[in-house]
Amino acid sequence: MTNLDNVILKEPDITDMDQIYMMGADVWGKDQQKNEYLNECKNSIKYKSGQWFALYSENKLLSSLLVHRFDSHGDFNLCGLGSIATNLNYRNKGYGSLIIKKTVEFLSCTENVNIIFLYSDIDASFYENLGFIRIPKNLQKYDDSDCMAWVGSDLSLNNFLDDFDDFIPSYF
Ligand SMILES: CC(C)(COP(=O)(O)OP(=O)(O)OC[C@H]1O[C@@H](n2cnc3c(N)ncnc32)[C@H](O)[C@@H]1OP(=O)(O)O)[C@@H](O)C(=O)NCCC(=O)NCCS
Repeated sequence: MTNLDNVILKEPDITDMDQIYMMGADVWGKDQQKNEYLNECKNSIKYKSGQWFALYSENKLLSSLLVHRFDSHGDFNLCGLGSIATNLNYRNKGYGSLIIKKTVEFLSCTENVNIIFLYSDIDASFYENLGFIRIPKNLQKYDDSDCMAWVGSDLSLNNFLDDFDDFIPSYF
């Protein structure tokens, strides 16, 4: 049985970074040798520009994601989530969903973030179940990746939809 009670969200220890990079290697590192893939991750400008968060249970590293911070626009305090992955050995136990829920809670409660974007490369229903909405088709920038947003309860969804085409971030 999976225990979701004793898990904590925190910035990963520096010594855990290789494990973090390897979490999504089955999808993002296809056809690459492990060392080649790790080197690419270590030098990735995208990875350096965000802040990593990880879900731990005791010392076990379960899931991780990267938080990107974008400029605010008026009342809109914007962030993005990316590079979401769960250790292959712990998938389908609820940890991927839990790290997203905990990160949304952390960003909205501690930093007043009220719009959180992500680009879904998988079936969008996974993120819809976590409160993200798919941005209308006419505002999408890519054919193969859905831009989705979580909108805080302080914002009206309609106002947000009226305004947000100005600041939808490109793929991150
Ligand atoms: C997507 C991912 C993070 C989910 O992590 P997880 O810990 O297994 O997530 P959970 O246990 O909370 O949820 C599992 C659900 O995700 C679904 N899921 C996993 N991979 C999926 C995919 N490629 N497409 C659609 N749904 C997927 C599972 O079917 C399952 O659905 P269910 O709850 O209805 O049975 C994990 O599969 C992963 O690391 N994948 C590789 C990296 C990746 O593709 N990241 C997403 C980039 S947008």
